[in-house]
Amino acid sequence: MTPADASTTTSAAPAATPYGTLPPASTPSARKPLSLPRLREMHAQGDKITMLTAYDATFAAVADAAGVECILVGDSLGMVCQGLSSTVGVSLETMRHHTECVANGLRRAQGVAWLIGDLPFGSYHESKEQALRSAVVLMQAGAHMVKLEGGGWTTETVRFLVERGIPVCAHLGLTPQTVHALGGYRVQGKTEESAAQLRREAGALQDAGASMLVLEMVPAALSLEVTQLLTHCPTIGIGAGNGTSGQVLVLHDMLGMNLGKMAKFVHNFMDGAPSVRGAMEAYVRAVKDGSFPVNATHAW
Ligand code: KIV
Repeated sequence: MTPADASTTTSAAPAATPYGTLPPASTPSARKPLSLPRLREMHAQGDKITMLTAYDATFAAVADAAGVECILVGDSLGMVCQGLSSTVGVSLETMRHHTECVANGLRRAQGVAWLIGDLPFGSYHESKEQALRSAVVLMQAGAHMVKLEGGGWTTETVRFLVERGIPVCAHLGLTPQTVHALGGYRVQGKTEESAAQLRREAGALQDAGASMLVLEMVPAALSLEVTQLLTHCPTIGIGAGNGTSGQVLVLHDMLGMNLGKMAKFVHNFMDGAPSVRGAMEAYVRAVKDGSFPVNATHAW
């Protein structure tokens, strides 16, 4: 028997590969796996929830090792991985593939993070049944929760998925899949009318069973109000100030991998960090201790 034969027949999985290392961690994480009850507990205790996007096995495993609690396989991968100019062109099959890559990475690294898969444009718009079929694809690829964008019209879809055992993260404010209807990447909820609508929709999504709500590019005062309004649905802000229950950033942005104009709400955590993992650890610390984001700098 050759050594290669031996390694494939005597152990369940090879310990390491020469291409990056995603070993089963030599010291398995002391942290408990994230779960819905754990996220609810954190929310109740006012412990800020940390989230980053990741699209592949290695970045997901490193984020997990850095203490990031939630990993979002966002459809922002359309921009950062596929070179598209919006998320509109991202397909369900692409989301399935990247969700599976991230789930594999977390499994191999014995990660504990909560994995959220983004339902892409067109995959939940037709009917609740279509949304269920799409959500099943992402859940079977390894997601623990799916995210979908939109207000009132998504409420019944959220209820339908939740009743069928699929945890849902809703997304209000700037919803990038509707960028063409919104007329660009603009702050939402600036008028009294649109703010009132956002408050109403957030309440309806919580009542429909959403167990997380992303608020994107919403004035800090409004997102604080919505966060205080929601009793059991933590809000995760991006460009929404420091009053939310947690924060999310796009991985490539917070690592300074941005050749264009950086959005106002982004901070480059690679500044002064010794490594990518160090940058992610700095992000986790800053979100937890409330030093990121700074309303005067990163919000409206
Ligand atoms: O797709 C994504 O990365 C997102 C975040 C910006 C929240 O939806």
